[in-house]
Amino acid sequence: MYSQLEQRGMAEPPVNISTLIKMKNEDVPIACLTAYDASFAALVDQAGADLVLVGDSLGMVIQGYDTTVPVTVDDVIYHTRVAARGLQRAFLVADMPFMSYSSQQQALDNAVRLMQEGGAMMVKLEGGAGQIGIVENLARHDIPVCAHIGLKPQSVHKIGGFKVQGRDSDKARQMVDDAVALEEAGADIVLLECVPNELGKAVTEAVSAPVIGIGAGPGVDGQILVLYDVLGITQGRVPRFVRDFMPGSDSVLGALKHFVEAVKDRSYPAPEHCFS
Ligand code: KIV
Repeated sequence: MYSQLEQRGMAEPPVNISTLIKMKNEDVPIACLTAYDASFAALVDQAGADLVLVGDSLGMVIQGYDTTVPVTVDDVIYHTRVAARGLQRAFLVADMPFMSYSSQQQALDNAVRLMQEGGAMMVKLEGGAGQIGIVENLARHDIPVCAHIGLKPQSVHKIGGFKVQGRDSDKARQMVDDAVALEEAGADIVLLECVPNELGKAVTEAVSAPVIGIGAGPGVDGQILVLYDVLGITQGRVPRFVRDFMPGSDSVLGALKHFVEAVKDRSYPAPEHCFS
């Protein structure tokens, strides 16, 4: 019997969670990008990205806010639904926005909406040990979860800015413990933002789930960047870990392919994109 994929005549099977785990185990870097609409999602997919995140960064790059805090579940559902239409191969993850997972029931209801109405294959939420119960409950209902630790942009007002996390040894140790606890609770992927290289490597070695880094150095299993940063669209100051792939590329698709190649051949992130 033919799979749906073979019937559609696609060259490569769609990425699923097993593909990502196999990539980690075989040391094949996982290339990830955000996307928020069908046209860009299609280009990101064609460029060969393995995972597409409809991030709540949409609040900053699409809606023009200074933070991700104002983004709503309805916003993410809308952008996930339209981005999904552009994808053929990449694995689709949707962000749970600020205060959309403050209780187990609320998290479950919103995760179900992101999957059923948006078409997400996994939900991402920010948090460490404090979110264990939420992650356990989602996992118990077979909802795939990506746990976002390190810099948690939804906590920007509590932290006092977008800052490198885990610089001191106690906090670094706590972050490794959190990653292990989140995996034990059922998290399928860990996303690690803005930490020193050594900590990125330590978290990656401590868990068997794939670890996707953004500003977490070269020692993680995959890299993700915000699409508008990769295309040099973002105005003003950008974080140190950002690389604009437009210079030297003759098209948007060319720049996205360049990003994917740079992740795969490990030329990105280079030392200038890292925190030590
Ligand atoms: O919302 C987002 O785009 C993210 C990335 C920073 C990984 O969480």
